[in-house]
Amino acid sequence: MTRPERIRRPGRLLVTGGAGFIGSAFVRDILGRRDGTEITVIDKLTYAGNRANLAAVEADPEQAARLQFVQADIADPAVVGPLVRTADAVVNFAAESHVDRSILDPEAFLRTGVIGVHVLLEACRAEAERARAGERAAAPRFVQVSTDEVYGSVDAGHSTESDVLAPRSPYSAAKAAGELLVQSYFVTYGLDVVTTRGSNTYGPYQHPEKLIPLFVTNALEDRPLPLYGDGMQRRDWLYVADHAGAVEWVMRHGTAGETYNVPGEAELPNREVVRRLLDRLGKPWSLVRQVEDRPGHDRRYAMDGSRLHALGWRNRVGFDEGLAATVDWFRANEAWWRAVKSDDWDAYYERQYGARLATSQAAAANDTA
Ligand code: NAD
Ligand code: DAU
Repeated sequence: MTRPERIRRPGRLLVTGGAGFIGSAFVRDILGRRDGTEITVIDKLTYAGNRANLAAVEADPEQAARLQFVQADIADPAVVGPLVRTADAVVNFAAESHVDRSILDPEAFLRTGVIGVHVLLEACRAEAERARAGERAAAPRFVQVSTDEVYGSVDAGHSTESDVLAPRSPYSAAKAAGELLVQSYFVTYGLDVVTTRGSNTYGPYQHPEKLIPLFVTNALEDRPLPLYGDGMQRRDWLYVADHAGAVEWVMRHGTAGETYNVPGEAELPNREVVRRLLDRLGKPWSLVRQVEDRPGHDRRYAMDGSRLHALGWRNRVGFDEGLAATVDWFRANEAWWRAVKSDDWDAYYERQYGARLATSQAAAANDTA
């Protein structure tokens, strides 16, 4: 079935946070298709942003000619306004994305997740006015990349898009606030907006602060793996190319004002994820240390994906296939992760894990399989 597309091809996209983990996958995938699409990335290059994530496209003259990189803050209206002026769609990946850091230092989460979103929306509103005045063909579409964490911890069943939002960490509260602002611009100003709520994403180029890349890179060095609490928290794992693909699908086909869950392919307890990655690496369970839990740790996330399926999207990568590709990528790209685990990494690691590891205990043998 041919589905109508909301964004012209080849089009011009403004991608925020395009040097991060999922944003860079989105950019690499679209430019790699060589269909003429032009992309401007705006990225502040925080500790999580990494120009090396775009090295493959920047080294390819045909793709590099269609990529413009602007190092700036999405909360800066002077930079954002002119960039939105030429965009068919604004895809907002930019955020502080790590729950543990939001517990240590929440403020940046609010600045980017709320004020930054507001600045982007205001720029889109100005362009919608220009479209109404006949000064451009159509208003830009705004795509907000959000998270399953806005639902809070889900004891049983699967969250649907109309469920009440109940975020429980500064990270997820900032993401929920950003979403609500986006929705308000749809209702109040008639802006063309869509929102995605993705589940736990993993894959190449993920910052090693997150569970899978942290444990893979630590295990490669035979260092301890700090498992929070009993390790029985459950997440639904989504391969990065599927997350980026779903965001693009919603950008092209989603109904204005609608929100779409993007579930993964495997709801698993953390212990089981760790067991599988150690198997792939050929490393022993004895590396795993049980450490003090994350405060307010959400026990489970799980979403219903019917609305996205009805829109025509299907994930392509199962968990074992994706995990094998991820583990192998980290093994083959040691220079990439060693560079990321430098500068202020040691200070962060000590702050987050120093006391935890000092009081840790051997994790009970894995019994989740
Ligand atoms: P990431 O931390 O790897 O990348 C975030 C990027 O945003 C970085 O390049 C950073 O430099 C940039 N950035 C941060 N603040 C900025 C600002 N003020 N202005 C401009 N750029 C800024 O994050 P990710 O894992 O790729 O996540 C991308 C988006 O997807 C986030 O909005 C996140 O909430 C959402 N999400 C992530 C997951 C996941 O499991 N990783 C799941 C669901 C949703
Ligand atoms: O669910 C979507 C969310 O997934 C995204 O919105 C976030 O941006 C992303 O960071 C991720 O959040 P989580 O907190 O679920 O991911 P993280 O990799 O930090 O942790 C995954 C699980 O592993 C969680 O239950 C906490 C646990 N964990 C994590 C780390 C870093 C540990 O046990 N030890 C650790 O050292």
